[in-house]
Amino acid sequence: MTQDELKTLVGQAALKYVVPGEIIGVGTGSTVNKFIDALATMKDQIKGAVSSSMASTERLRALGIPVFDANAVAGLAVYVDGADEIDGQGHMVKGGGAALTREKIVAAQSRQFVCIADESKKVEALGAFPLPVEVIPMASARIMRQFAALGGTATLRLKDGAPLVTDNGQHILDVRGLRITDPLAFESEVNQWPGVVTVGVFAHQKAHVCLLGTATGVLTLTY
Ligand code: A5P
Repeated sequence: MTQDELKTLVGQAALKYVVPGEIIGVGTGSTVNKFIDALATMKDQIKGAVSSSMASTERLRALGIPVFDANAVAGLAVYVDGADEIDGQGHMVKGGGAALTREKIVAAQSRQFVCIADESKKVEALGAFPLPVEVIPMASARIMRQFAALGGTATLRLKDGAPLVTDNGQHILDVRGLRITDPLAFESEVNQWPGVVTVGVFAHQKAHVCLLGTATGVLTLTY
């Protein structure tokens, strides 16, 4: 199976976690796009979604799924999202699509995080995928120096030759060369650096379930 077919498979498999009559948390990315397409087949059974990006909001609305403001919803039963990396404990690196801050917000208001991923995302230790960090632009250079002190190399993410601007009006640094052996401690430390909006390690908001697309079908991993 191709990677795209594996994404379709896990996107469809996630439907069984959707609670009828409820509002569902929806992530961002190419795997989630498959989930959104599948969700459209049962849109009459849900109230709608809280979305983690403008891109997902647009796709949900185009398919006739109502999107609620996160502030209007106290809690969500389930959040479905992809990952750039996931380790054996359900800790993840996310933000390849630049939506990490809103993803962490929606994950935090959800009781269960269902990660959908193809098997290329499963890793022993986080850090091979360049770690996305959303930052306030005036702090970029200092945060880059802080990552250099940890042995990492941070670069400013560009789009069409200019700094990429997130849905929140901020910038993204991608950090290479880190091996994140203690994701909880790493996330806590980097989060409190001045100017860091969100670090793309999801350890405090880790996955509870991962639906992993493999050549032999969908594996359900629980943490
Ligand atoms: C978006 O910001 C990310 O966190 C995505 O969830 C992650 O990059 C996985 O994306 P794909 O499903 O496109 O690989």
